[in-house]
Amino acid sequence: MSMVRAPGPPPARQTAPVARRGRPPARNEVWRNGRLAGLAPSDLAARFGTPAYVYDLDVVGRQAAALRAALPPRFDLAYAVKANPNLAVLRHLAGMGLGADVASGGELRHVLRAGFDPSQVVMTGPGKRDEELAAAVDAGLRVVTVESVGELRRLARIAEAAGRPQRVLLRSAVTEAARLERVRLVGDDGAGKFGMGTADLRIAAAEAVASPWLEPIGLHAFGASNVTDAAALAGHVESAVDTARALAAAAGFELRLVDAGGGLGIPYEAHEAELDVAALGARLAALTARLDGDPATRQTRLLLEPGRFIVGPAGAYLTRVLERKQVGGHQVVIVDGGIHHVLRPALVGQEHRVRVLTGSAAGSGASPSRIPVTVAGPLCSGLDVFAQSAAMALPDPGDLVAVLDVGAYGATESMPLFLSHPMPPEIAVRGGEAWVARPRIDPDTWLGWQVGEPGGA
Ligand SMILES: Cc1ncc(COP(=O)(O)O)c(C=O)c1O
Repeated sequence: MSMVRAPGPPPARQTAPVARRGRPPARNEVWRNGRLAGLAPSDLAARFGTPAYVYDLDVVGRQAAALRAALPPRFDLAYAVKANPNLAVLRHLAGMGLGADVASGGELRHVLRAGFDPSQVVMTGPGKRDEELAAAVDAGLRVVTVESVGELRRLARIAEAAGRPQRVLLRSAVTEAARLERVRLVGDDGAGKFGMGTADLRIAAAEAVASPWLEPIGLHAFGASNVTDAAALAGHVESAVDTARALAAAAGFELRLVDAGGGLGIPYEAHEAELDVAALGARLAALTARLDGDPATRQTRLLLEPGRFIVGPAGAYLTRVLERKQVGGHQVVIVDGGIHHVLRPALVGQEHRVRVLTGSAAGSGASPSRIPVTVAGPLCSGLDVFAQSAAMALPDPGDLVAVLDVGAYGATESMPLFLSHPMPPEIAVRGGEAWVARPRIDPDTWLGWQVGEPGGA
């Protein structure tokens, strides 16, 4: 296994960053002090090649630890595996004692291999196949969230066949916050596909209470994605608790768990503020004090399923400049990686921060002047642009450039087969040690699986 040890300072410890007088504290992120995950970018590129995903597990650990420290003890964390299922990330979080949220049988196999305690793993998702539900029952998960009356009935049959009663959460249909977000983003006020509306929630609760094979323990409700407003997040948790309390009282089951989903946001652009986890924790502490005073909720535990917040800032996509040209008087830089590996900018229309890491444009010498530059990838698609007219110093061919904040929904949410480039490796770094957590996959691998003629080559 390939290893690189940092020549520089010792690895950072899992403590909150300390502000220097007059300056905001440095963000806990993969790119700090001219280094990527504490290592020289040129060393990483020489060792592992480009393009490559680089994950700083120390940043992952600090994000998780900061959130856990801010939340009242009644809260548990289940890392949303969909954000980044890389085994190195999963092992690191399992080692910290976090739970996990899986959305498929494949993700379940990932967390079991990574060493998560199944009694801390929850399964959620709008369409689970019978074999996925059976695997969840078999593994003895903490709870399975059901999203329709039909799924509840299938799960009851599967639990009966296995002879193992299954704990369930009932997922409430899109919350007000999520609905409003969708209206804002796409002007769509239509029905969501997640969870159940009020009538189905009541039917599902009554059937679950009546079934000897199901044990209803609470409610699941996801708010909105990438929310950095602590008050909005806390408001969502409060409303999920209120809905859950009313449902449990009406159906006659004990409310043991309210799962408020994920959605804790991170800043993607330089001017955006970080989520104030202390403010979130303070407001949720007031909520838990209220639960303490109510016999119906005194024992109720609360769960969050953060993905993006924990891993997003920990990942960078490392590329190298292939070409530079002027098109219509505008500076264009073509790098050796593109949106097939980081689809998010094209998918949600949000630019990620792009940093030049080496060469004169990296700013180590005299401060280089900033001009409008377009940073684009090698794909034959106009969507393949990381930065459109960003004010930045102009890098030279051969310089390294990183796209930041790709630790969540980077590798997993992309389309690596497009244009048959190699699939970039995933490099994990912990305490200054780097290793290939998943190797580069050459297109010959999937070419070799293909069959162009019936029964033939
Ligand atoms: C059920 C569920 N939980 C958790 C998450 C994680 O969300 P985030 O990464 O925004 O925290 C998602 C994201 O889609 C989800 O669908």
